[in-house]
Amino acid sequence: MQLKNDRYLRALLKQPLDRTPIWMMRQAGRYLPEYRATRAQAGDFMSLCKNPELACEVTLQPLRRYPLDAAILFSDILTIPDAMGMGLYFGEGEGPRFTKQLTDFMDVVQLPVPDPEVELKYVMDAVRTIRRELNGSVPLIGFSGSPWTLATYMFEGGSSKTFSKIKKLMYTEPEAVHILLDKLAQSVILYLNAQIAAGAQSVMIFDTWGGVLTPHDYREYSLSYMQQIVAGLTRHADGRPVPVTLFTKNGGLWLEEIAATGCDGVGLDWTMDIRHARARIGDKVALQGNMDPAILLGTPERIRQEVQAILDGYGMGSGHVFNLGHGITPDVDPEKAGIFIDAVQTFSPAYHMQ
Ligand code: CP3
Repeated sequence: MQLKNDRYLRALLKQPLDRTPIWMMRQAGRYLPEYRATRAQAGDFMSLCKNPELACEVTLQPLRRYPLDAAILFSDILTIPDAMGMGLYFGEGEGPRFTKQLTDFMDVVQLPVPDPEVELKYVMDAVRTIRRELNGSVPLIGFSGSPWTLATYMFEGGSSKTFSKIKKLMYTEPEAVHILLDKLAQSVILYLNAQIAAGAQSVMIFDTWGGVLTPHDYREYSLSYMQQIVAGLTRHADGRPVPVTLFTKNGGLWLEEIAATGCDGVGLDWTMDIRHARARIGDKVALQGNMDPAILLGTPERIRQEVQAILDGYGMGSGHVFNLGHGITPDVDPEKAGIFIDAVQTFSPAYHMQ
């Protein structure tokens, strides 16, 4: 089906545009009262993810409020470890936790590679439901965590500040970590290809914790597995490639290497000047980002000023997907998000004049 608004896909392929497309990481989330209501109806967060009708409902909520240029599947990166049997749960007011603890080599060897149409069928059902309901309005982004980022949660048992459990294993039994990363890379390839088959029109890989590694370990433990995934993605049924975006938070030092993986877009956090990022890799890939989500706590004038500065930083022409440099936080006033989106749509046409 022909998309009514394909700006997001055109920007990733660096094709000419009338204005810069925008979506927001975590655009379906707790800053929206309608999200909080649907989540309360579902019970907890994982019950929301596992209910395709409700996952579709929260995916569409931000699109009803704002003229966004893409929808992102409502789910979580930790569905894969959950499908491997680790028992994911979210305690009230806490981050993710697992009922099963991974400690050594044997635990890793025994983990299965999940079949996405069996253990993760609820995700594929959500993708199919969302595509049907979007009805060709905007593209749907599918996603996964990077193998490294998933492995940190699996070994640390949740969020971490020091990553000492997984790093200790890396520096004592590196083969165990590689066996896990390899299994995760295989799982992510199957998972993303299943999302593509179910209807995802682009995919994004979140490497939230790649930036805690040394440059050498980043290449060995994170980037090389993301590269395998990029190489393993299928094309659409009609032969068109599916654009893929890689996002390593705090990865600004390694942009050239990220861009060399064969990805179409590179996500930037706000610690990077997008002008410099474009000078370094902008002839190879599209750039996504990169406003600090905390600016959304500022005044409308401050938000508009920052949008203008980022548009100006990227400069003329296609190849920029406007976004935040990380997820929108629950304390943002939805009206400020609206001001942000409106500013991008109002100011950006000037950067697309021929
Ligand atoms: O962007 C979207 O709107 C799509 C949905 C989405 C969620 N998680 C929903 C969610 C996406 C793309 C993710 C990815 C994700 N999940 C990442 C990578 C991106 C990033 O933020 O760095 C990570 C690291 C996770 C793991 C995760 N899930 C954590 C650490 C938490 C708790 C943090 C928090 O904000 O409370 C979650 C829960 C989660 N995932 C929520 C949402 C909307 C909040 C759950 C709730 O409703 O209470």
